[in-house]
Amino acid sequence: MKVEIGTENPIASAVDGLLVFVDTGWKGQVEAIDRALDGALRRALSRQMFKGRPGDVAIFETSGKIQAQVIVVAGDSPDGVKGRRAVFLGCRKARDAGVRTLAVDAKAMSPDRLTLLAEMAVLSLYTFDRYRRVEERKEIRSVRVLVGRKSRERREAIRLGTIIGEAACYARDLVNEPPSIVTPRYLARCAVELQRRRAGVRCEVRDAKWMERQGMGGILGVARGSHEEPRFIVIRYRPRRGSIRIALVGKGITFDSGGLDLKTADGMATMKCDMSGAASVLGVFAALPRLRPSSEVIGIIPATENMPGGAAYKPGDILRIMNGKTVEIVNTDAEGRLILADALVYAERQKPDWIIDLATLTGACVIALGANCTGLMGDDAGLKKALMEAADGAGERVWELPLLEEYKETLKSDVADVKNSGYGKDGGAIKAGLFLKEFVESTPWVHLDIAGPAFMEKELAASGKGATGHGVATLLRLIARESSRHSPRNRAHRKATMRSPDRDAG
Ligand code: BES
Ligand code: MN
Ligand code: ZN
Repeated sequence: MKVEIGTENPIASAVDGLLVFVDTGWKGQVEAIDRALDGALRRALSRQMFKGRPGDVAIFETSGKIQAQVIVVAGDSPDGVKGRRAVFLGCRKARDAGVRTLAVDAKAMSPDRLTLLAEMAVLSLYTFDRYRRVEERKEIRSVRVLVGRKSRERREAIRLGTIIGEAACYARDLVNEPPSIVTPRYLARCAVELQRRRAGVRCEVRDAKWMERQGMGGILGVARGSHEEPRFIVIRYRPRRGSIRIALVGKGITFDSGGLDLKTADGMATMKCDMSGAASVLGVFAALPRLRPSSEVIGIIPATENMPGGAAYKPGDILRIMNGKTVEIVNTDAEGRLILADALVYAERQKPDWIIDLATLTGACVIALGANCTGLMGDDAGLKKALMEAADGAGERVWELPLLEEYKETLKSDVADVKNSGYGKDGGAIKAGLFLKEFVESTPWVHLDIAGPAFMEKELAASGKGATGHGVATLLRLIARESSRHSPRNRAHRKATMRSPDRDAG
């Protein structure tokens, strides 16, 4: 699917479908198009009881009066989440009606809105059907964004959105592919491929021998039950003149069976999604060389399967993480935090200004916040605020969970420095966050538990079924914004905002 920019009048656009966004004052907003149709659009919308509220969507056949054969009208909202949903519903409605070339009336849209539009057009029309026969493929070939008058700002906004959308689709493909294809070595090949295709990206792929020399007992312990070799992937984007250095750590469990503490059939069914954090990090790196931000970004991906093979790590085992801390294993299904522990220690040694990890870490986070919301934990107020603002702009739901220090009790071990899982099922997402915190010393750090929104079992909000690429849009907005904020002109500002600890929570 191509996203184009155009300036013609929507009525005259040579496309087969036209998409118009309105609010509850829709009558005035469809006036010009309505006039060309002798009032038929307004009458039809009234008959369909169309109100123009967010989530409302209606379709109208133009019977040859204008170029487009159908007009889709969608109720819009300036809110990011609702705005995403409006584009999602509008694009899908047009596709289902057989539209192959779609134009969108975007004269009144701000640059931010144009970005969201382009991004969501790409995301809404994403399909994963490499592996099935589709009898009659309904596919929109191009989305033409009609801006009234072209400007550099508008063109850049649309380009940014298109790149973000394509990056998230890259992540979606990686997650949707079957787990016997997407192994740790496959993820490593993807990183190498990104390096080959894009100037500015370098990667290092490390094997078990290297991990042994580094003392990465967490990932090596988890990998023992699998025939697949683990990989530790480091991918770097370095601009010519870097301002801030951001480390992105992505959980890369390419399949989570639970290990010897085997999951139930239901619990295991979607566990190919347990590398979604890794996929989103790679998605970011697919976009960075196209966006050329001035931030330096380091992607760190510990990748392994969690399987119950004969050599598998066992409850009662004690693993030593890269920083020397020991962990008593009480549940082999709490594996994500073990591979992340090594990765966080490695990340901090790269001396970044910020560390952000993305992980499908706990079912408890899904219980707490539901399927469409990421749990955010951390103790740096500045980083948390920047992330939440970026998420708002992207329309990705994020909600903070407190890292309550008193729950650390539950992670105490009689034989090691910590246990990998505390007693009780309560507060599981927070306890996992507290575990991770043990492995970050002083760098501002945020943990994003994406167990809910990474993978949809039903269509929800602005996501179809399957992988969502959640996090990509937020991170790219964060990176783009920080880069412009820390451009050499704004160095003084940087000093004022970088480190702002907020320890009241913990
Ligand atoms: N990968 C799972 C978490 C998960 C659950 C992701 C549902 C996506 C959807 C993780 O490794 C896990 O198994 N966590 C356990 C932790 C427990 C054993 C302390 C969980 O949530 O049950
Ligand atoms: Mn698990
Ligand atoms: Zn897992």
